[in-house]
Amino acid sequence: MKKILLVASFAALALTACGKKEAAPAASASASTAAAPAGPSVEVLHWWTSGGEAKSIGELKSMMQKQGITWVDSAIAGGGGDAAMTALKARVVAGNAPAAAQIKGPTIQEWANEGALANVNEAAKDWDTLLPKVVADVMKFKGEYVAAPVNVHRVNWLWINKAAMEKVGVKTAPKNYAEFFALADKFKKAKIQPLAHGSQPWQDATVFESVVLGVGGAKFFQDALVKLDPKALNSPTMVKVFDTLAKLKTYIDKDAANRDWNLATAMVIKGEAGMQFMGDWAKGEFTAAGKAPGKDYICAAAPGTATSFTFNIDSLAMFKQKDPAAQKAQLALASTVMSPEFQEVFNLNKGSIPARISGVPTDKFDDCAKLSMADMGKSSSNGGLVPSFAHGMAVPNATQGAIVDVVAKFMSSDMKSKDAAAAVAKAGATK
Ligand code: BGC
Repeated sequence: MKKILLVASFAALALTACGKKEAAPAASASASTAAAPAGPSVEVLHWWTSGGEAKSIGELKSMMQKQGITWVDSAIAGGGGDAAMTALKARVVAGNAPAAAQIKGPTIQEWANEGALANVNEAAKDWDTLLPKVVADVMKFKGEYVAAPVNVHRVNWLWINKAAMEKVGVKTAPKNYAEFFALADKFKKAKIQPLAHGSQPWQDATVFESVVLGVGGAKFFQDALVKLDPKALNSPTMVKVFDTLAKLKTYIDKDAANRDWNLATAMVIKGEAGMQFMGDWAKGEFTAAGKAPGKDYICAAAPGTATSFTFNIDSLAMFKQKDPAAQKAQLALASTVMSPEFQEVFNLNKGSIPARISGVPTDKFDDCAKLSMADMGKSSSNGGLVPSFAHGMAVPNATQGAIVDVVAKFMSSDMKSKDAAAAVAKAGATK
C-alpha cells in the first residue's frame, strides 16, 4: 500500500524542530545506523538494496568518503520505496532527520511545504543551465533547490530474454498487445513462463501505468493519471485497460505473490520467464549479471508506447541540519550528486540516464540508455513525455495510494473491469 500520508505527521512535525540531534532515536529500521560518527558525515536514507542498486549507490558512498565525509547508510529494503517512506516519516517526526533521503516528485513539495527541507542553492548555482526544466522544476520548492537529481528512469519498458524469444521463432519485440499476446502464447507452449511479475501493489501499478499508456495513449494517460479527470478514469478506454490487465494476469505464475521485482527480473535473466514490464532499474540487474542488451536481452518500449516516455526521476531531498559542519557536508553531497563523474558511473550501473543534460560523456552508455535518451528528447516535443504515476511523479501520495489499492485489488481478485474503472474514478478524488 502506497500511503505515505504526511498529513498525520504534520502536527507532530510542528512540535519537533527538524534535525534536533538530541531528540530520541526514531523507532525505525534504520535507527541503529544513525549514531553520529566523529568528523563530517552524511546520512542518506534510501531503498537501493538490489544488486544493481547497491552497486550504484556504493559509488556515491566512495566519492563522499574520498572527500573525508563519512557515509552513514540507511538502506531500507523494499522495491518502490513504501517501507523507506514509512521509516523516513518516523525519523523526521522524531526530530532525527537524515541529511538526505531518496524522495520523488510531489512528495518533495509535500515535505518542503512542511518546512522540513533545506535549500542547497549554494551548491546549485548553475543547475538551471545543467538540468532539463522538467527535472529542475521537481527539485525546487518556491524557486529554491531542495533536492538533487541522480537520474531519469524510464518506466514504460518491456524486458525480453533474447534466447527465449528466438527459441519460439519470434524476431522482434511486440509493438502492440496483439503481438504481445501472440508471443506470450508461444512462450506458454514452449513451457517458458510468459510474464515475470511480483504481485506487490507498486509492481501491479507499474504494469497498470504502461497499459494505460499503451492502450489509451499519452493524452489519455495525462487526463487519467495526472489530471485525475473522472471522465477519463471511468471511461470505456479505462475498461479496456482493465480488460488488458485481466488477460495479462493469465500469463503470470501462481508463485508471484509478494515476489520482489529483482527476483522477477532474475527469472527473465535466466530464461525461466520470457518478459517483464519494469522500469529500467531492471537493466541494472541485467548489467550486474554480466548480460548485454541486444545479445542476451531486449529492451523494448512497452506495447503501444514507442513514442512516449514515462519519466521517474530519483533524487536526494535535503533535510534541514542544525550543525554547520553537517550543513557543509550536505552541500558537498549535493555537488557530488550533480558532478559529471557521479552522474556517469551511477547511471551506468543503475540502468537509468543522467539527469544532467550537459557535461556527462555518453559513449559508455549502452543501446537501451541511448534509446532512452533519444526517446526522452522526442517525446518532450510530441506530447509523449509523461510523469510516472506508479513511481510518485504524477499525483499526491494519498491519491496515488488510493488508486494503487484499486489496481492491486483488481490484480488479486476477479473484480470486473467496469467496477474497477468506477472505483479508480472514486479513488482519484482522494485528497
Ligand atoms: C525507484 C528506483 C528503484 C525502484 C525499485 C523506483 O521507484 O525510482 O530507483 O530502483 O523503485 O526499487
